[in-house]
Amino acid sequence: MFRRIKGTQDFLNLTLFNFVVDQAKKHLAQYHFTEIATPIIEPLEMYKRSTGQETEVVTKQMFTIETRKDEDKICLRPEATPSVIRAFIENKVQQIPWKIYTWGPMFRYERPQKGRYRQFHQFNMEIVGSQSVCQDAHFIKMLDRFFHDKLLLNNYVLLINYLGCPEDRASFLGILDTFLDGIIDKICSECKVRKEKNILRVLDCKNPHCQNLYKDAPKITDNLCAQCNSEWNTLQEQLTLLSVSFAVQPKLVRGLDYYSKTVFEFVSQNLGAQSAFCAGGRYNTLVSQLGGKQDQPSIGAAMGVDRTLLLLETVKDNLPLPQEPLLTVILPIEHAQNTLALLIADTLQYAGLCTDVLLEGDSIKSMMRKANKMGATYALIIGPDEQKEKTVMIKNMVTGASESVLQADLVEYFKR
Ligand code: HAM
Repeated sequence: MFRRIKGTQDFLNLTLFNFVVDQAKKHLAQYHFTEIATPIIEPLEMYKRSTGQETEVVTKQMFTIETRKDEDKICLRPEATPSVIRAFIENKVQQIPWKIYTWGPMFRYERPQKGRYRQFHQFNMEIVGSQSVCQDAHFIKMLDRFFHDKLLLNNYVLLINYLGCPEDRASFLGILDTFLDGIIDKICSECKVRKEKNILRVLDCKNPHCQNLYKDAPKITDNLCAQCNSEWNTLQEQLTLLSVSFAVQPKLVRGLDYYSKTVFEFVSQNLGAQSAFCAGGRYNTLVSQLGGKQDQPSIGAAMGVDRTLLLLETVKDNLPLPQEPLLTVILPIEHAQNTLALLIADTLQYAGLCTDVLLEGDSIKSMMRKANKMGATYALIIGPDEQKEKTVMIKNMVTGASESVLQADLVEYFKR
């Protein structure tokens, strides 16, 4: 027996999954986004240049694929943002701002646990080519409305932070470095490596001892230039005016390298350690980093569909999930009625009615049991008498009532 690959999942019932994706598509359409699709395989080098050489996603979590010798190395996409920007550049998209979404599986070689998989699903949204901080407020409000109004979630918190412009970031890294020099003997060995390679990431070290030490760490928002400071204040004011509740989290730095200015995460305690179910931020230089001639300031986020599904477990009964259609199951009593059963099934199916046929030659008792298990509302019994008289016996599986109906009147009967 084969088993599924570690960190992957089988979805045997996609009702809730499809509901989330469909609702997200409808919601995004209201905000004038359109859907695109990009490949699952992309050049490995692209993620090194965008997601970041020193990020965990690139150094530890890439699924790379061996291809023919002279081809560039390729990988399974760990996230969609670089692919979207590559598609923007490669297809010479002229529409600015470009408001698009894309969704599908992403791959990261992580240590699997609840809410953390090696193949997971993101619903990814981007606005490429918009500089205004007001766009950030508008975008975050759109997400908050989706979770609150469309998915009826209320057990979450929005964390925000502001990483400033590249100049702010560069000077802050110096300030942080000096702070870390003062406590270098006390921080964990991983933070010592991060200090050298990707210093901002020390701030979201999960080690409680380090977290305690970093309580007094300098805040990037206390070290912003005048322009960034004004934008940071505007963002908070506008979110408040738009009735978005948020908490400022000075240690929120995000694990991907391309962010500048606004960053945010929607988190829920109900998810345990893997608490973020949607995250993103502003990235202003990715277009030029990936070879585009003119930079496009952009903002985006990705909802983790798998984690959102976990969150919905407790509220799903209140959601307007699509109803299963009423099922009619046809039971030919003898082999001689099989063809007639197929013809009747075809007529009902053509008329748009959900219909199935039992063709295995079981006894009537066992077929009735099967129809019941299948969730049939009607069992349609055809024996030699019905065949001769051009009728069927319809049994209502809910009320138990039976009636004989002419085969020619069946569609009308069910439509009624
Ligand atoms: P990210 O924070 O790496 O951001 O991922 C976004 C979301 O994807 C997470 O908050 C989480 O819900 C989900 N996720 C990530 N890794 C896993 C995993 N191993 N298992 C299950 N769910 C996971 C990005 O990917 C950025 N591209 C978001 C973005 C778009 N920023 C700007 N535009």
